[in-house]
Amino acid sequence: MVERETWATRVGFILAAIGSAVGLGNIWRFPFQTASSGGSAFLAVYLLAVVVIGIPALLAEFVIGRRTHLDAINAFKRLGRSQWLFVGALGIVGSFWTLSYYSVVGGWVIRYVVGSLNGNALVAPGDYFGAVSAGPEAVAFHAAFMLITVVIVALGIERGIELATKFMVPSIVVLLLGLAVFAATLPGAGQGYEFLFSFEPGAIASNASTVIPAAVGQALFSLSVGFSVMITYASYIGKDDNLFTDGVTIAVSNTFVGVLAGLVVLPLLATQTGNPGEGGPGAVFVAIPTALANLPLGRVVGVVFFLVVLIAALSSSISLLEAVTSYLVDQGLSRVPTAAGLGAIIFLLGVPSAWDTAWLSWFDGIAVALFLPITVLLVVVFVGWVMGRDAMDELRQGMGSDGIAPLWLWALRTVVLLAVIGVVALNLYDLFLTPEKGVYIVPPL
Ligand code: PHE
Repeated sequence: MVERETWATRVGFILAAIGSAVGLGNIWRFPFQTASSGGSAFLAVYLLAVVVIGIPALLAEFVIGRRTHLDAINAFKRLGRSQWLFVGALGIVGSFWTLSYYSVVGGWVIRYVVGSLNGNALVAPGDYFGAVSAGPEAVAFHAAFMLITVVIVALGIERGIELATKFMVPSIVVLLLGLAVFAATLPGAGQGYEFLFSFEPGAIASNASTVIPAAVGQALFSLSVGFSVMITYASYIGKDDNLFTDGVTIAVSNTFVGVLAGLVVLPLLATQTGNPGEGGPGAVFVAIPTALANLPLGRVVGVVFFLVVLIAALSSSISLLEAVTSYLVDQGLSRVPTAAGLGAIIFLLGVPSAWDTAWLSWFDGIAVALFLPITVLLVVVFVGWVMGRDAMDELRQGMGSDGIAPLWLWALRTVVLLAVIGVVALNLYDLFLTPEKGVYIVPPL
C-alpha cells in the first residue's frame, strides 16, 4: 500500500486552508450580499456567526480529519461510527455539487482577465456580461477553469495544492492591498466605507428572518465548512499542530480578506451608482468594469482585480475537488485518473449553469441554503454529542493550555448547536414556506 500523503509544513496546511476559505465567496459573494442585505448590519451578523458558529464548526471538522487521517467517508468508519458516514458523504456531495457552478463563475473570471486586458469588458459592461455569462463560450471557459483545477489536484497534496497555495495566498493579499489603496483615492471611497461600517441595528431587526440566515450562510460558506473540505485538509496534517490556533488564524485571515475586498469593491461601486447597495449579483462583473471604464488605468486595474479573483477562485476550487478525490484515492484508486475523471463529470454537471444563469442561481441556492447548514448541523451533533470527550482529547493534542478544549466542547453541545438549529429552521422556512424564496427548490425548467 502506498503511504498516504501529508502537508510538508504546518504553514503549508494553514495557507492551503486559507486558500480554500478565501474565494469567490469573499470577493464576489460577500460584497454584494453585504450590499443587498443592509450593509453593516449584515457585516455584524456575519462577524458574530464566524465566532459563534464558524470557528467551532471549523474545529469540529479539523478534529474528525486529524483524528483519523482519512477522507471524510472513511473517517467515520475509522471512528467506529459507520452509521454516521452519510454525514461525510453529504459533505462530499456538497463539494461535488458546488464545484459544478463555482467553476462556471471561475470561467467568467478567466474571461474577464482577458476582457480587461484587451478592453472589451469595459466598453459596454452589461452587454458583455450578458454575452459571456451564458451559452457556448461560458461552457468553454468553464472547461478551462476545471482543467486548471484538475491539474493542480492531480499533482497531489505537497507538489500540487501546497505548492500552489504557497504562492496564491500571499499574491491575493498583496494585490488586494494595492487595489484597496487605489480605491481609497476614488471620489466615492467615503460613501463606500460608510456603507460598510456605519452600524444600524435597526436594519437587522427589521429584516431578521432574511438577514440572519443569509449572513450565517455566508459565514459558513466563506470558511469552507460543511462540504467535508476541512475534514479532508486536516486529514493530511502529519504532526500534531495546535488546531485551535490554526483555526483562528484561518478564520481571521479569511475575514480580513473579505473586508479588504469590500474596501476595494464598495468604493468602486459608489463612484458609479451612487448607492453601493444597488450592485446585485452582477456587481463584480458589471458594476466594476463600468466604474473602471471611466478611470485612468482602468484596464490595468481591471486585469489585476480579476486576476486576484481568479487566484482566489482556484485556491478554493482545488479544495472542493480534493474533498471528492481524497475518498477515491483512499479507496485505492490512483490520483491522476481520479482527479481527471471527477473533473470531467463535475464539468458536465455544470453545463446547465454555464448555459443559463438561472440554473447557476438554483445550484447556489440549494448548496448554501440546504446542503451547507444541514451538514454543519450533523457535524456539530456528531462531534459534540457522539465523539464527545474523544473530540476534546483530539483538540487538546498539540495545545499548550487546557481550558479551551472543554469550553469548545461545551459550546458545541449547547450554543453552537442551538444556533445552527435556528439557522436550519429559518432556511427551511424560507425555502418551503416563503413563495418568493421557494423558487429555489424548483429547478428552472
Ligand atoms: N470558501 C470558499 C469561498 O469563499 C468556497 C468554498 C466553500 C470552498 C466550501 C470550499 C468549501 O469562495
